[in-house]
Amino acid sequence: MSNYLLSTYSRINLSFTHGKGAWLFTNNKKKYLDFASGIAVSCLGHSNPILLKALKSQSEKLWHTSNLYNIKEQERLAQELCNKSFADKVFFCNSGAEATEGLIKLARKYHHIKGDFLKKNIIVLDNAFHGRTITGIQAGSNSLHKEGFLAKENCSCGFIRVPLGDIEYLKSKININTAAIFFEPIQGEGGINVCPKNYLNQIRKICNQNNILMILDEVQCGIGRTGKVFAYEWWNVKPDMVGLAKGLGGGFPIGAILLKNKIAKCITPGSHGSTFGGNQLACAVSLAVMKEISKKKLLKNVLNLGIFLEKKINKILSNNTSVITEVFGKGLMLGVKCSVPNSDLAKILRKKGLLVVPASNNVIRLLPPLNITKKEAQKAIDIINEAVNDLK
Ligand SMILES: Cc1ncc(COP(=O)(O)O)c(C=O)c1O
Repeated sequence: MSNYLLSTYSRINLSFTHGKGAWLFTNNKKKYLDFASGIAVSCLGHSNPILLKALKSQSEKLWHTSNLYNIKEQERLAQELCNKSFADKVFFCNSGAEATEGLIKLARKYHHIKGDFLKKNIIVLDNAFHGRTITGIQAGSNSLHKEGFLAKENCSCGFIRVPLGDIEYLKSKININTAAIFFEPIQGEGGINVCPKNYLNQIRKICNQNNILMILDEVQCGIGRTGKVFAYEWWNVKPDMVGLAKGLGGGFPIGAILLKNKIAKCITPGSHGSTFGGNQLACAVSLAVMKEISKKKLLKNVLNLGIFLEKKINKILSNNTSVITEVFGKGLMLGVKCSVPNSDLAKILRKKGLLVVPASNNVIRLLPPLNITKKEAQKAIDIINEAVNDLK
């Protein structure tokens, strides 16, 4: 622990010297099965040889020149993301929070350029998390994240909050001031809340009817995490914009906004930007990530092992619900609802060598690398089973 670091996290007293695949190692040779993946970041595991090769090769050529010049790696990554999605254009940044920031700016600017000067409000959901910038905390629902940080306490600041799933209530909140509906198809920090069947389709329809934008935050649920390259594919809809980060770099910081041409038109040189966004090093690594996560075999692994884990956890809790009561999610983005404090379960799992991430609503998140093996999934199940037995 350091006296020199700002206390933004209540850190676990544990540090790692190296990692290999789904495993993390400490200097006293203890190893941990990593079902946290740095909060859904290390999507291809630690020290992945393909990513190492891409990083090493690019690092010996060129790291950064700035967006004052053409960047071939960035152009290739943008093309790859567009080919794989609904998007016509891409903007690169460095994190999920920056993606949120850009998405909200673009939504407002889109209407502004069209002369719709009233359309500024963004509809967001309960339990939402969109990052820690001023805009991100306004869009998010956690009051602890906002307290003391806003220009005006309890300010809705142009964000209208609705409960997830209640389409009629959402409709009742739409008016001439509504610019966009912005949400996570599967809420991560909020507790692995999967939007119901047809929810995205209904929102698409509402957006079309009211000339408002449908914007998705796939910072946590995107890039293969659910068994599809993008989570929205599960609903078979096309959004207007999507924010990405986390898994997009497999551990190297990068964020992105995917968008349609109709929105891209509102931006002219100088109106938005980023110094680091999409530099050579980040894009070279991300290109390697995209190539890997687009492979059918990998996506199938995510689906199969997701189903495997869900089945096995259901079996554990079917015998006893005094520790865990439910498992839900999609692919390798799973939530386990706890009946003991989730931090207690996370602690005992950690003691037994399994790393997980707590989330809101007393849930623990299982977010392993997407390329884990069945043997590793079974190992996690054995540890969960033991921990549940110890706690009951
Ligand atoms: C859905 C979602 N959006 C945005 C963010 C913010 O991303 P970052 O921490 O990279 O700024 C996160 C981070 O957890 C997230 O889960």
